[in-house]
Amino acid sequence: MRAIVVTDESAGTAGMTLAERPQPTPAINDVVVEIHASGYVPTELTWPSTWTDRADHNRTPSVPGHELAGVVTALGYGTTGLSVGQRVFGLADWHRDGTLAEYVAIEARNLAPLPGDVDFSVGASLPISGLTAWQGLFQHGRLEAGQTVLAHGAAGAVGTMVTQLAREFGAYVIGTGRAADREKALDYGAHAFVDLANESLEDVGGVDLVFDVIGGDIQKRSAALVRAGGTLVTVVGPPESRPADGLAVDFVVEADRTQLVEIVQRVRDGRLRTNIGTVATLDDAVATFNSTERTKGKTIIQIRS
Ligand SMILES: NC(=O)c1ccc[n+]([C@@H]2O[C@H](COP(=O)([O-])OP(=O)(O)OC[C@H]3O[C@@H](n4cnc5c(N)ncnc54)[C@H](OP(=O)(O)O)[C@@H]3O)[C@@H](O)[C@H]2O)c1
Repeated sequence: MRAIVVTDESAGTAGMTLAERPQPTPAINDVVVEIHASGYVPTELTWPSTWTDRADHNRTPSVPGHELAGVVTALGYGTTGLSVGQRVFGLADWHRDGTLAEYVAIEARNLAPLPGDVDFSVGASLPISGLTAWQGLFQHGRLEAGQTVLAHGAAGAVGTMVTQLAREFGAYVIGTGRAADREKALDYGAHAFVDLANESLEDVGGVDLVFDVIGGDIQKRSAALVRAGGTLVTVVGPPESRPADGLAVDFVVEADRTQLVEIVQRVRDGRLRTNIGTVATLDDAVATFNSTERTKGKTIIQIRS
């Protein structure tokens, strides 16, 4: 099969190549999925799991990409709950070969059914950003209706999901980002917007939940805004700053079938819009990932049209 592979950690996206790889075979509880669309997160090549397996052995050449939508073509020994021919979408294991490929072997529990009226490219755009927003707001942030959420990077892939889900849940959402992102963040449902380069973050007053996708000084200044009993949730590594009278939680998104079903149902009934910036083919994937243009939402690679 054809796949994007990386072998050299120091090369970054310039080291990506389109190569021929062996067809994956399903392990116990796996399925093999014929991938129609794949999602990629720009920071993947800095994650240790891209380069080593759980025993810390070099696992290159490895295939990046962890989001997928496609069709099940084979079941492993003991696999239950999915059928050959079923449309699925989900989140691939960080330590195994990923989804910038024509096929992937993946644990069935990491997948959910993809309804027939949802495009494969939309399905592939949802797992990481949708699950990250869901888990950050509801599991780690313990959001309650009527609370105020400070959603950093509100026009980005995660931020647009955070904004929409928090607003649907009854929160007041203050988005942040670049000046050029104001209209997009408001369009995705933010009640207010702070241009981090030109406006004062401190003017937003107290908030109950900070959803941090930026870190550093922005995280530190945001921690100071958290009200007593509130939470700073971050997805960019161990927190460097903590609220004086609240929690700071760092997490890595996990596959969750029930939450994927909730997310895709919202896409079907119009409560949630995905945020796809670029769609490219597998042939154009390496050039797309090496583009110097600013990313504007998810980059989706269409493996099959
Ligand atoms: N732990 C986890 O499970 C998990 C899951 C998903 C994502 N993540 C991480 O979360 C981060 C965001 O992911 P994403 O997919 O949402 O990325 P994205 O689509 O690029 O969105 C991030 C947004 O924040 C903006 N931004 C970043 N720094 C800023 C600054 N200093 N001032 C103003 N705006 C700023 C970006 O603008 P520019 O593009 O102009 O910088 C962009 O609009 C990434 O680091 C990703 O690796 C972690």
